[in-house]
Amino acid sequence: MKKYTDREIAAFGLDPARIPKHIAIVMDGNGRWATAKGLPRAAGHRAGMNSVKEIIRFASDIGVESLTVYAFSTENRKRPKEEIGILCGLLIEYMNREIDELHANGVRITSIGDLSWFPTAVQETVRAAEQKTANNPGMRFNIALNYGGRAELVRAMRLAFSETDEPDEDAISRNLYIADSGDVDLLIRTGGDVRVSNFLLWQIAYAELYFTDVKWPDFTPQELIKALKDFAGRERRFGGLK
Ligand code: IPE
Ligand code: IPE
Ligand code: MG
Repeated sequence: MKKYTDREIAAFGLDPARIPKHIAIVMDGNGRWATAKGLPRAAGHRAGMNSVKEIIRFASDIGVESLTVYAFSTENRKRPKEEIGILCGLLIEYMNREIDELHANGVRITSIGDLSWFPTAVQETVRAAEQKTANNPGMRFNIALNYGGRAELVRAMRLAFSETDEPDEDAISRNLYIADSGDVDLLIRTGGDVRVSNFLLWQIAYAELYFTDVKWPDFTPQELIKALKDFAGRERRFGGLK
């Protein structure tokens, strides 16, 4: 739930009227962060969990309505079984450790993607977190797990066509995994690569894009503030004139 007053938000150098409603993050660079330190990749994923914790808290405190993070893509299924197993273990550990605080802060957790691909323990943990927080009034925290933008669109179009022979844009939007988080205002990608990697293809149609070389485990609320300041300076025209 929003914790800071507008004055406090302004004290961070942010314009309270220009906080994006929906932020999406491609949390990339965990493996390289670890390798650069001579550590196994798993250490990077573990360190990345702490960034998730801090970024959720800060985003919720400043009144962001929806935060959608890319935790595991459909393409990430190509990774070695061992790394996938480590990621699944960390996800369960993270949920078990953080669920009470997230719930206390009124965060509503929803997964997007095809959960059925994961081991039962992962599915059960995620479903339990969704159920526990389903009626919470605070920030929506959407976690993309075995998610692909194209797969989401195929699914949405099939559902839309089952409703009507001539679906329009609204009919597609309504059938995305999460209809009520709406379009993305700000898409952040850490880790230095300048690409979208099949994330939220429909929802980012008019998003402002922010790329940083900072690797995800080093992405602190201070780094988020930099992205938010950059966002606040953008002129969003949506195809119109100023
Ligand atoms: C992002 O970090 C996390 C996942 C994709 C699960 P990476 O694991 O892609 O880290 P790099 O890009 O190899 O550094
Ligand atoms: C994107 O990162 C997916 C997630 C952060 C979960 P990747 O590391 O998988 O992206 P590519 O392969 O470099 O495009
Ligand atoms: Mg990567």
